[in-house]
Amino acid sequence: MIHFFPPSNEKMRSKVPAIAPTVDILLANLEDGVPADEKDAARAGLVEVATATDFGDTQFWTRVNSLDSPWCLDDLTAAVLEAGDALDVVMIPKVEGPEDIHYVDRLLAQLEAKAARSEPLLVHAILETARGVANVEEICVASPRMQGLSLGPADLAANRRMKTTRVGGGHPGYLVREDPPAGDDGAAQIDAPRTIFQQDLWHYTIARMVDACVTAGILPFYGPFGDIADTVACEDQFRNAYLLGCVGAWSLHPKQIDIAKRVFSPDPAEVAHAQRVIEAMGDGTGAIMLDGKMEDDASVKQCHVVVGLARQLAERDPELAGAYGFAGSDGGS
Ligand code: GLV
Ligand code: MG
Repeated sequence: MIHFFPPSNEKMRSKVPAIAPTVDILLANLEDGVPADEKDAARAGLVEVATATDFGDTQFWTRVNSLDSPWCLDDLTAAVLEAGDALDVVMIPKVEGPEDIHYVDRLLAQLEAKAARSEPLLVHAILETARGVANVEEICVASPRMQGLSLGPADLAANRRMKTTRVGGGHPGYLVREDPPAGDDGAAQIDAPRTIFQQDLWHYTIARMVDACVTAGILPFYGPFGDIADTVACEDQFRNAYLLGCVGAWSLHPKQIDIAKRVFSPDPAEVAHAQRVIEAMGDGTGAIMLDGKMEDDASVKQCHVVVGLARQLAERDPELAGAYGFAGSDGGS
């Protein structure tokens, strides 16, 4: 998970040392959500946290203001010249096309040279404009700095003029309704009770983002889920993204850290099943029947994805290593 915090807020800054070890990525947010009159304080807070915190193996990112804002240049300058080597990735919002990434790439190179930074900063773009979605393939390959993409459902909905007022998730009006039953006279009873199925507003965009990221060899993330109290729907949204190929999501509240951790780590039963299929498939070719189901070269590849992810996660998390039965090994066997 990418855990957001507002660095302008002193109380939030003071919680950073406790939160950092509990998340994969900690992100100092300078953009939306930070009031205009707190932009300078947020930038100063980013520098303070970057220079004062031992992040261990947790990554430290920042989301700067958009390229068309009056704050972006100062944000990027402070991020490179003042935040030091602590920063791993810069998240760029409202990316419209490869030209935005080219600009950021050049600017970062100039600032890195000035700062004598040892490692290049990576770039994570938010997909949150219609034009950005139309150009997603080019955005993904616009620079070797590209680390990944996040879906920004709130800005994307506004930019597309979708008629929603939420931050991510579904909408009760976006649905499919069961056909009407026929009455005694054979006529359709349109007022009879009928089951409705709410549909996923984000399916197309997530699937397109995942294809573009996989093609470019970078990582797709779902973004924010704004209804903090509705932990159930948040879990559903995160799981849809996980099943479609995303590697993570943003957490906006500590409650969402646990949800992301649970959802984006394969279920131990699924890992055990995948291991069984891999074992039964021998050299991985041909077709077999296992529990009445056909398994072949393609299904065993899916199993390798699940087990490979479980192993990667187990290397960082002994509790997960135990749950997957990798404990006592190096997590790699
Ligand atoms: C995130 O930035 C969003 O707009 O959803
Ligand atoms: Mg946004």
